[in-house]
Amino acid sequence: AIARVLAREGAHVICLDVPQQQADLQKVASEISGSALTVDITSDDAGAEIADAAQKRGGLDSVIHNAGVTRDKTLARMDEKKWDMVIDINLGSIAKLNRYLLDNDVLKENARIVCVSSISGIAGNMGQTNYATSKAGVIGLVDATAKQLEDNAKGMTINAVAPGFIETQMTEAIPFAIREAGRRMNSMSQGGLPVDVAETIAWLASPASGGLNGNTVRVCGQSLLG
Ligand SMILES: NC(=O)c1ccc[n+]([C@@H]2O[C@H](COP(=O)([O-])OP(=O)(O)OC[C@H]3O[C@@H](n4cnc5c(N)ncnc54)[C@H](O)[C@@H]3O)[C@@H](O)[C@H]2O)c1
Repeated sequence: AIARVLAREGAHVICLDVPQQQADLQKVASEISGSALTVDITSDDAGAEIADAAQKRGGLDSVIHNAGVTRDKTLARMDEKKWDMVIDINLGSIAKLNRYLLDNDVLKENARIVCVSSISGIAGNMGQTNYATSKAGVIGLVDATAKQLEDNAKGMTINAVAPGFIETQMTEAIPFAIREAGRRMNSMSQGGLPVDVAETIAWLASPASGGLNGNTVRVCGQSLLG
């Protein structure tokens, strides 16, 4: 949905996902006349591969850090592997890739960095300590990086969206009762749609949001959580 909305706004979108998702990725990229890049963002050469694809198009006007995973378990049952994996994909990769893209001048002047947090990162959530920690970390990272971008004085900004319950394959995997509770947690008693989040991201990726830096915008249908 994010790729489609950005393409509608005139962007050439480099769509990225893990190699296992190549077929779906290629389908979306072709539909919007964008490009497909299969990279695991936790790999050591992820920054270089993204930079290479971006430089072929003259650099990046914006980067959207949307990739994310859940590995839900109550804290007592959480093993180290699940903890590290979620923190690494949802938070560590954003920090690592931002540094690489900034250090190597892949981001153009006035570039927009948009990160995807979650209301779990604001309110916490039972059984999601690893996920909530990673998403709270995203908000902190955005805050800290905003100051760094101001010092760079290249007109770049970084902001985040914090979605509430959105109907995607991630939430499809949640047990029915919890899923239904998630839907009813907002003022419209329904799950949000990916396009709701995509429209806010497209705005944060556009020149129109130039007055915002270091903000987290909730897209949650006025959720009771947080
Ligand atoms: N669905 C919700 O209710 C909800 C709520 C709040 C925040 N979010 C966040 O929104 C973002 C998108 O989630 P979604 O619901 O569309 O989930 P999704 O599972 O449908 O999509 C996530 C995508 O990230 C990709 N990905 C995972 N690990 C990767 C890696 N190492 N390298 C590259 N790509 C990787 C997956 O292959 C998948 O295509 C995530 O950051 C998620 O945490 C979702």
